[in-house]
Amino acid sequence: MALHDESTEISRVQRLYDASYRVFSSGKAGLPTLRHIRWLQEFLDVMEPSDVGIDASSDDEGLSDAESSPRSRNGLILGKTVKQITYIHIHECEDFSIGIFCFPAGAKFPLHDHPNMVVLSKVLYGSVRSKSYDWVTSPCSSLKKGGLAKLVSDNRLIDARCKASVLFPRSGGNLHSFYAETPCAILDVLSPPYSEDMGRPSKYYSDIPIPNLPGYAVLKETDHLPDDLTVRGAPYMGPELSLKAMY
Ligand SMILES: [Fe+2]
Repeated sequence: MALHDESTEISRVQRLYDASYRVFSSGKAGLPTLRHIRWLQEFLDVMEPSDVGIDASSDDEGLSDAESSPRSRNGLILGKTVKQITYIHIHECEDFSIGIFCFPAGAKFPLHDHPNMVVLSKVLYGSVRSKSYDWVTSPCSSLKKGGLAKLVSDNRLIDARCKASVLFPRSGGNLHSFYAETPCAILDVLSPPYSEDMGRPSKYYSDIPIPNLPGYAVLKETDHLPDDLTVRGAPYMGPELSLKAMY
């Protein structure tokens, strides 16, 4: 099954990319089965911050300033020193994307959906609380830009000891929000990626509890990005990916 001759030198992020390609890329094996997803999860389970160019030690002696991402002396991103939610893009093709969100302690990422996507997520360091829902009614029903949703988890603590989680288009908590209890980072594999052109835009929601229906809420799409949400980008400093499996 090895995709490279130099199997002993393959980085973990390369293995993750290769496995994602095998599971998600079109024309390979049709829609992924649960077995495929579980197989891919195992590649995420072993990922550590250094595998994707992040130094998660707590020292903050990096070369930090307002314009650049904090770096360690060996060039890694000092994940625990980011002051804003920071996205590190690793890869995107038409079938899947791989990237990392780094959060400072106390950061909130608002409720958002993953339309028609499968998303695998692994906390690399730190801990985060998550709230998640699945749609009960279509978001395009009579409730304009909203719908009825069932609570899947509330205030669920996820940390680096947890195995990778997975959500599906209709189950597993397709809509979720996060609160960073400590500085933390989440490595995501999304398939397919968000795409305005392909009808998979990123949307944000507010949840309105239903007093007589505990465990359910009406979710309403917000008109614009929440004012207090700022995501900055940082360069990927991990091992270079070989995309030769694409050809
Ligand atoms: Fe998400």
